[in-house]
Amino acid sequence: MDLTMLSDIFPTGFHGAVTAGVGVGSTVYVAGAGPVGLAAATGAMLLGAAAVIVGDLNADRLAQARSFGCETIDLTKGDPAEQIEQILGVPEVDCAVDAVGFEAKGHGSDSGHEAPATVLNSLMDITAAGGALGIPGLYVTGDPGGIDEAAKKGSLSLSLGTGWAKSLSFTTGQCPVMKYNRSLMMAILNDKVHIAKNVNAQAIGIEDAPRGYAEFDAGAATKYVLNPNGYLDA
Ligand SMILES: NC(=O)c1ccc[n+]([C@@H]2O[C@H](COP(=O)([O-])OP(=O)(O)OC[C@H]3O[C@@H](n4cnc5c(N)ncnc54)[C@H](O)[C@@H]3O)[C@@H](O)[C@H]2O)c1
Repeated sequence: MDLTMLSDIFPTGFHGAVTAGVGVGSTVYVAGAGPVGLAAATGAMLLGAAAVIVGDLNADRLAQARSFGCETIDLTKGDPAEQIEQILGVPEVDCAVDAVGFEAKGHGSDSGHEAPATVLNSLMDITAAGGALGIPGLYVTGDPGGIDEAAKKGSLSLSLGTGWAKSLSFTTGQCPVMKYNRSLMMAILNDKVHIAKNVNAQAIGIEDAPRGYAEFDAGAATKYVLNPNGYLDA
């Protein structure tokens, strides 16, 4: 099951951590506790981070992040800075990963409302000067269901001045999966990382696919793997 994660989410999350500049002793904030966010948190640990903090509005997914040693932030209670300060003693981190993208929801009293620029703006606020944002979360050039005319064209209201003033670096785009495939495979095969456990991967038969999609869409803390031939049970 661990090797299945090499096809997308593990390299993607790992790429988020690499491009956020995570190294030995880094403090890291990962926005989003979906499979990609949990893979980014796993990647940050593999890269030697001192503290990995994961933020989401979904309590079950935050519990999943805690199950393998992450600190967590409940964003229904407000923006991440104050809660990061309670954990680290300072309201900022060295490295930040956006594993949410344009479907982001607002924080605190704005929880549950679509707010596509929220994650990027909050990451610029909480990342220390000279730090980096890894942005595997998806941003689009058009979103017919966007909240306003700008969002429908993929334009977001970003506080880019904050990024400029703090000399932050940004990396986004599709993950170059093959760049990381072999090294992450070797880490799995040599028992250095347990990505399937960390994302709570579950194999389901093809007949259960509609249930898997529906539960994932509703925010289940599970990464469903379709297993039509039963190979994963072998
Ligand atoms: N770059 C790539 O190559 C690549 C590959 C795979 C996936 N992705 C993208 O990565 C993103 C994450 O994928 P996933 O499968 O984990 O998605 P997901 O929808 O399962 O998880 C996103 C999580 O973000 C949470 N969230 C919403 N608003 C938030 C906020 N303001 N702060 C923190 N968390 C918030 C949601 O509650 C949810 O748990 C998606 O945008 C996906 O399209 C990119």
